[in-house]
Amino acid sequence: MSESASIQMTIPNLTAMEALARRTAERVRPGDAILLEGPLGAGKTAFARAFLRALTGTPDLEVPSPTFTLVQSYDTARGPVHHFDLWRLSGPDALVELGWDDALADIVMVEWPERLGDERPGDALSIVIALGQNSGDDDARVVTLSGWPGRVP
Ligand SMILES: Nc1ncnc2c1ncn2[C@@H]1O[C@H](COP(=O)(O)OP(=O)(O)O)[C@@H](O)[C@H]1O
Ligand SMILES: [Mg+2]
Repeated sequence: MSESASIQMTIPNLTAMEALARRTAERVRPGDAILLEGPLGAGKTAFARAFLRALTGTPDLEVPSPTFTLVQSYDTARGPVHHFDLWRLSGPDALVELGWDDALADIVMVEWPERLGDERPGDALSIVIALGQNSGDDDARVVTLSGWPGRVP
């Protein structure tokens, strides 16, 4: 499979998004990066929450949006997971101060990866979430997965 291969799927509701997050959690390994793109309200944090609940085995784990702290770290069965929300990142220096380089040895999950610039990992799983169109169904999302050749969730 080539690195540029991508898969598009319709995710009809939050439950289906949580199932995708759980499948991703089954396949993740230390050193992996998961990049979550999509507009405000797309479901990036909802995905991260279900992913972290699966990896910690804690169904009611609190997973707040790290909008202001920019990063929140969790101990999980696969080692530390660092959940970033880079919307408010002021620049590349701020990313270093957040411990980005060390975090890459663990599992990183990034909302607003557009802010990474040159620091964007080339071997990441990219998850692009688009709001469903012309369905009249507010819950539908179109999700495009790329990366992780041979290991697609
Ligand atoms: N298919 C879906 N996938 C993800 N979230 C959904 C879906 N349908 C409805 N939602 C709702 O949309 C909202 C997404 O919010 P959030 O995850 O904070 O978005 P983001 O982090 O992308 O800004 C949540 O309230 C969630 O319950
Ligand atoms: Mg969010």
